Amino acid sequence: MVEENYRVGILTLSDKGACGEREDESGSLLADLVSGMGNVVRYQVIADDPDKIIMMLKSWVDDLHLDLILTTGGTGLSPRDVTPQATEVAVDYLVPGMAEAMRAASIRITPRAMLSRALVGVRQQTLIINLPGSPKAARENFEVLLPVLPHALAKLKGDPADCAVRED
Ligand code: MTE
Repeated sequence: MVEENYRVGILTLSDKGACGEREDESGSLLADLVSGMGNVVRYQVIADDPDKIIMMLKSWVDDLHLDLILTTGGTGLSPRDVTPQATEVAVDYLVPGMAEAMRAASIRITPRAMLSRALVGVRQQTLIINLPGSPKAARENFEVLLPVLPHALAKLKGDPADCAVRED
């Protein structure tokens, strides 16, 4: 049961997307997937530039106070993949279990899932989730987290309810 309309940002990291050479299918897919639980109030495609990514994440948290930021792309091993490094700089702390859960579930689909270095972390009261870049991988990873997202976001906002009472 989703009790709040969360403010969501979607940040696509793609050199080709940023210069118009590739359509951003993953960003629009993620917008569809979150439509039941929140409003996408910011959506941007930028190049795989760590300083820009850090600046954008900080500004979406510090200035806009978004509840949830989904990044897609740049989690792999190619030289331009810098999303996890940039995210690590921007967050106050990591939520390792959420990233571990994405990888554990994804490895059952493809062994290549272990190549994603995606992180999940918190800056202030904003949950930041890295997802891989392909629409297939972004969907498969995000769907793993969907069942716990309302509880995670409620807790971040200070929900004092006893976690043991409900299991969703
Ligand atoms: N996870 C799932 N569930 N499904 C996938 O197809 N692709 C993997 C991995 N995670 C994949 C996945 C591949 S091939 C790569 S290279 C990494 O995500 C990193 O992707 P990125 O560089 O686009 O972020």
